[in-house]
Parts: sequence; structure tokens; C-alpha cells
Amino acid sequence: MTRLITVSGGKGGVGKTTVTSNLGYALSEFGIDAVVVDANLTNPNLGFHLGVPLYPVTLHDVLRDDAHITEATYVHNSGLRVVPAGISVDDLKDTSPERLKDVIHDTVGEPDIVLIDSAAGLGNEALNTLEASDELLLVTNPDLPSVTDALKTSSIAEEAGTHVLGTVLNRHSGQDHELTPEEVEDMVGHPVVSVVPEEDVVKQSITNKTTVLDHEPDHHVSHKFRGLAADIAGLDYEVPSRGMFQRFKDMLGLK
Ligand SMILES: Nc1ncnc2c1ncn2[C@@H]1O[C@H](COP(=O)(O)OP(=O)(O)OP(=O)(O)O)[C@@H](O)[C@H]1O
Ligand SMILES: [Mg+2]
Repeated sequence: MTRLITVSGGKGGVGKTTVTSNLGYALSEFGIDAVVVDANLTNPNLGFHLGVPLYPVTLHDVLRDDAHITEATYVHNSGLRVVPAGISVDDLKDTSPERLKDVIHDTVGEPDIVLIDSAAGLGNEALNTLEASDELLLVTNPDLPSVTDALKTSSIAEEAGTHVLGTVLNRHSGQDHELTPEEVEDMVGHPVVSVVPEEDVVKQSITNKTTVLDHEPDHHVSHKFRGLAADIAGLDYEVPSRGMFQRFKDMLGLK
């Protein structure tokens, strides 16, 4: 049966789309049939992260009932299937986000996992996304405002009977002013399932219109996402530890 997992967190800019694209890519690497859906209908950017911002048919057309979801499903070079949203201003008109649940259930071929990239906030758009899924993966940063928003998101999801898989603590750099993973766990009430460091390679990969895993497959951030993917899919994978030499090279910005 297909697992429908929303990637959300309440706060804008915490890394939801980054997690969706990299996690989806990592799942595909493991041979898992994964689909990523851009349910951020007002500010979609999953297409940018995966290299193709403009698609002829998008989720907006599907929600307007002008196309079937199979027509808005594209195959990325990794094998990952992508359902992008439309980026034009016209796409903001006449869409029915409340149809999201029905159209996602039409996804062809019963994929193993559908990852739904949510809009920020807890407005209708984000709530419809939560409603369309069975599971929630929270994304937060190590600061109080984003953790507070993640907590609100998880409470709403739990009230709706959505299973919370845990929290991805993104943009972690271990500085004194940051909340620690333990503090985030205590506050959100769910385990931190992955700590993704603040690294320029994330921005570089987005500029290069691809995932970190594609851009720098051996980077420790790529291994982090593989570890998260394996965890979610119930596979065995040991995240390679970074030796002292590698950490030194990272500090110098060397590959
Ligand atoms: N681990 C990281 N290290 C460095 N920069 C990061 C990291 N994760 C995300 N970023 C930066 O943060 C920006 C925002 O990330 P992203 O678009 O994934 O957030 P979002 O939560 O989806 O935002 P929105 O709420 O607007 O949809 C990225 O463009 C990237 O520059
Ligand atoms: Mg986003």
C-alpha cells in the first residue's frame, strides 16, 4: 500500500522542499518507487530544486480538473517521479486545494511512498496537505520560532489522526545559541530522526538545480539523507562516519 507522507513544519524557509527533494532522491536510489508532490500551491519551488521550473501540465491543472494527475507526473533522471505545481500568477486562480486528497489517491501505479511538500503556515493550503496524508515528517531549525511552529503542526496532525514520524532538525551548526536535538525532542514531543547540518553544499545543489545527493553523492549531507530514507523505508543503512581528514577537507571547502 502506498504511504502518503507530508513534509511540513509550520514555519517558512526551514527546509521542507530541500528535505522532500533529497529524501525522495535517496528513496529512489534505494530502489523505492517514490513520488514527490509540490503541494505548495502559492509559492511552489520543488520544480526549481529538481531542475525543471516550468512544466506544461502541473498539479494546478489537475486541481482545476483540466488534467489527470498522470499527465502532471514527470520522471526525474534519478527515476524519482515528480508532480510539480504551476509557478505563474494565473495558477493562483480557480484552484481547489481541498481536492488534493482525491487527486493524490489517483497517482498511477501504486508507488511505495508519496512525499508531499507542504506550504508554510497552518492555513487552508497546509491543512489540506496534512489531510491528504497518513504520516507527517516535521522539519524544523534549531530555534524557538521554528520549533514552536513544528509543535503546532504536529498537534494539529495528531488531532486529525496523522502519524508523526519525527522531526528533521535542519540547518544545525551546533552553535551555543541553537537549541540542541534533545531540547527539540522535548519541546516537540517526537524524536529527532535526522540532524542535517548547515552546509553550503545545500545552496550549491539548489543553484545547480539538483539534489545534494546528485551534486555531491559522497558528501556527509548526502549520507544524512540516505540514512533518513533508510529509516523511513525500514532498510539497513549505516551513515558513514566522517573521519578527521574529511572534516578538515570540509572546513577548507575541498571535495
Ligand atoms: N541544511 C542546509 N544548509 C544550508 N542551507 C540550507 C539548508 N537547508 C535549507 N537551506 C537554505 O534554505 C533555503 C530554504 O529552503 P527550502 O526552500 O527547502 O525551505 P522551505 O521550508 O521549503 O521554504 P518555504 O516555506 O518557502 O516553502 C534554501 O534555498 C537553502 O538556501
Ligand atoms: Mg518549500
